[in-house]
Amino acid sequence: MVIAVDGPAASGKGTIARAVAERFGLPHMDTGLLYRAVALNLLQMGSELDSEFAATRACDISQIDFADPELKSETVGGIASRISVYPSVRAALLERQRGFAGQPGGGVLDGRDVGTVIAPDAEVKLFVTATAEVRAERRLAELQQRGMNAHYEDVLADIRARDERDEGRAAAPLRRAEDAHLLDTSEMSVDEAVAEAVRLVEGILKRG
Ligand code: DC
Repeated sequence: MVIAVDGPAASGKGTIARAVAERFGLPHMDTGLLYRAVALNLLQMGSELDSEFAATRACDISQIDFADPELKSETVGGIASRISVYPSVRAALLERQRGFAGQPGGGVLDGRDVGTVIAPDAEVKLFVTATAEVRAERRLAELQQRGMNAHYEDVLADIRARDERDEGRAAAPLRRAEDAHLLDTSEMSVDEAVAEAVRLVEGILKRG
């Protein structure tokens, strides 16, 4: 079974995808980490950050350390959002994601274009969202928990800029697949959002 979980930055899609994967005993891939790994590689190579050519070269990573905490930084996330507009970067990362979705038994993938491009035949598609303000509050709390000094207005502006890039790009923009179930977590706690996602998946599987 393949479960696609898409949505904007800080919508809670990662937490939901991990919990759903655990609940149904499936492997999980955070596809955003691939874009972040390319962004980090680009930074470490000291290459230009706005060059499609350099970004495509930076996709040549044989082994990604998904546990590297650097991948989670705001700087790397911002660069990931910028390089993800390049069609050649998206093409270079496609096979890794399709390979993961196509493994025996399937898996859960979260990202922006899993239900639309990576795994359009996924058995279950969730589109997780929340208002920009709620997402900014969550991201701020997460940053403060990591001991970082951040301001709500800056975080909100960053979330809005990222939404605009993710939704506005020509190549595989962020959008809800027609057959994706909308899960608006604006007024839900993490536990409520996870419970609702599990309920949705169970309902879809029952209808089979
Ligand atoms: O989910 P995230 O914040 O870790 O993703 C970082 C950036 O990577 C995001 O702003 C856009 C890009 N991305 C993408 O274009 N397609 C995906 N499937 C996942 C992430």
